[in-house]
Amino acid sequence: MTSTYVKALTGSTAIVLCVALAGCGARGGGGGGGDAEYTIKFSHVVTGDTPKGKAAEEFKKVLEEKTDGKIAVEIYPNSELYGDEDELQALQSNSVQMLAPASAKFTTLAPELQVLDLPFLFDSTEDIPEIVSPDSAVGKAIYENKKLADNKVKVMGLWDNGLKQLSSNEPMRKPSDLNGLSFRIQPSDVLRSQFKSWGASATPMAFAEVYNALQQKVVDGQENPYSNIESQKMHTVQKHISESNHGYIGYVLVINTEFLDSLPDDLQADVQEAADESTAYNREVAVDVNNDAKKAIEDAGTTEIHPLSEQERKAFKDEVVPKVWQQYGEVIGQELVDELLASEK
Ligand code: LMR
Repeated sequence: MTSTYVKALTGSTAIVLCVALAGCGARGGGGGGGDAEYTIKFSHVVTGDTPKGKAAEEFKKVLEEKTDGKIAVEIYPNSELYGDEDELQALQSNSVQMLAPASAKFTTLAPELQVLDLPFLFDSTEDIPEIVSPDSAVGKAIYENKKLADNKVKVMGLWDNGLKQLSSNEPMRKPSDLNGLSFRIQPSDVLRSQFKSWGASATPMAFAEVYNALQQKVVDGQENPYSNIESQKMHTVQKHISESNHGYIGYVLVINTEFLDSLPDDLQADVQEAADESTAYNREVAVDVNNDAKKAIEDAGTTEIHPLSEQERKAFKDEVVPKVWQQYGEVIGQELVDELLASEK
């Protein structure tokens, strides 16, 4: 909450918001220098040592340096301030100013963003930068999304986590191995259809609840990149991981548009530059962070990792491509889905 922004509000609203938001008026908090004129609260749901956690720290470092501490960035990781269920609402009400939710978390607000949830959109991490660049068809569909704009949400960048693996207490080498199992999913219809195509059921659930749900066997398994599995200790309650690289977790770095517009022009430009630099940094570190997490899981010895052969991976792919892609043509945008299908080898 910024002093300028507070001034723009009516007195009573400002008082309520100041009471609700620790750090309003008081400078610093979890953020930067004591002389900050503006504070960006940046909430996310993962730990600080993941691709998103690290990129958020980089964003804070770069922006506080660029602005000589005029903007302080307070980072709230691990769902400690807001979780999946309320963070987008908090952004729209300016209770936080920035977030980087995975694309699937936007399903209610802007269902088109499920394009990034399409299974097997990427064959390897090397395909990611081109497909999600701001000038690509996929990038444009996200950056220029009208529903986000209408809801005071502006896209500042696209960050990676990486490719998802399947975990459960059963080995999963072919789709029929998933028959009758239940998987936790992010709240995306595309992901529900993906698991259904493999004969499994899917339960949407907030990220913060996944570890307990696995431990208590509320669900049998889940899908995530290694960094999320390891940092949430999911591997300690899952005996098997299939290295399927079947889907992508990518983050949409977003800011409350009214907050951004309330900043002087030079500071607005600094925010965009810090977003660009942290995006480049995120791309540099994401693969290594996931490789290190895989190694940590192997070293822990709790979980058997099964890298799928090309043929095994193809058997999973054949169940969902093109079927699930076609099923969501209307939701995601028929032209975009047709273009993606045409470039599918
Ligand atoms: C999940 O809910 O599994 C992920 O989107 C969490 C995250 O932000 O990486």
